Amino acid sequence: MAHSVEGHLKLNVADYDKLIRQLVPGYAAMRTAHMALLKKLLPADRRSVVLDLGGGTGALAEAVAETLPLAEVEIWDTDPAMLAVARERCARFGGRIRYLERSFANPLTPCDAVVACIALHHVKDLAAKGSIYRNIFAALRPGGVFLNADTAIAAGGALREFSYQEWVNAMAPHGLTEAQARAHFASWAHEDYYPPLATELRLVGEAGFADPECFWREIPFLILGGIK
Ligand SMILES: C[S@@+](CC[C@H](N)C(=O)[O-])C[C@H]1O[C@@H](n2cnc3c(N)ncnc32)[C@H](O)[C@@H]1O
Repeated sequence: MAHSVEGHLKLNVADYDKLIRQLVPGYAAMRTAHMALLKKLLPADRRSVVLDLGGGTGALAEAVAETLPLAEVEIWDTDPAMLAVARERCARFGGRIRYLERSFANPLTPCDAVVACIALHHVKDLAAKGSIYRNIFAALRPGGVFLNADTAIAAGGALREFSYQEWVNAMAPHGLTEAQARAHFASWAHEDYYPPLATELRLVGEAGFADPECFWREIPFLILGGIK
């Protein structure tokens, strides 16, 4: 069955943009850091093609289109309800944004940058994730950038608990109790996997990136990737 945000997060797509900021408290900070990095790594005065994998309601694609006025953005997502919201949100960009109802596990369009935000953690199988990272590397032109904003959690021990506790603490100002936060983690674990940072960087390196990098980190959230 295709992934559905309504089923997975138990929320209406219309409410997604508000609720995701409560459930992923690092969301806004990640977006700011993501766009700052993209602006530094991709010339804003040149035409470029940017892929947004698992782009959902189009918030990241919108930020990319605003940050890089000459960029064209492709949103890849399997959930038509999310893409419908993205179409509405991004209508003012006209043909600069394209909407592909397609899995990001497929071979990708040749491009200058690949971005994603809290989407690739839906790939639980590491071999499948490695294959997606290889497709990303293959699609990028030389000098192209991969910037994945997501979550990484230590495999075990004190650091794993610290990471989840940090997440719980960050949710508290948004009105979620510890019990509610931990119930969410247990429910999401059926469909999500947040590999440790070292595993992520290994997969990025094995995909072909010479210098896998963690560009930004606020445990448990991060932006990782590389430059081809
Ligand atoms: C948590 S949402 C994140 C949406 C958006 N990137 C954001 O920052 O708000 C994850 C998105 O990934 C999409 N998704 C999950 N598996 C996918 C796949 N195999 N191919 C494409 N999209 C997928 C879901 O439909 C959903 O829209």
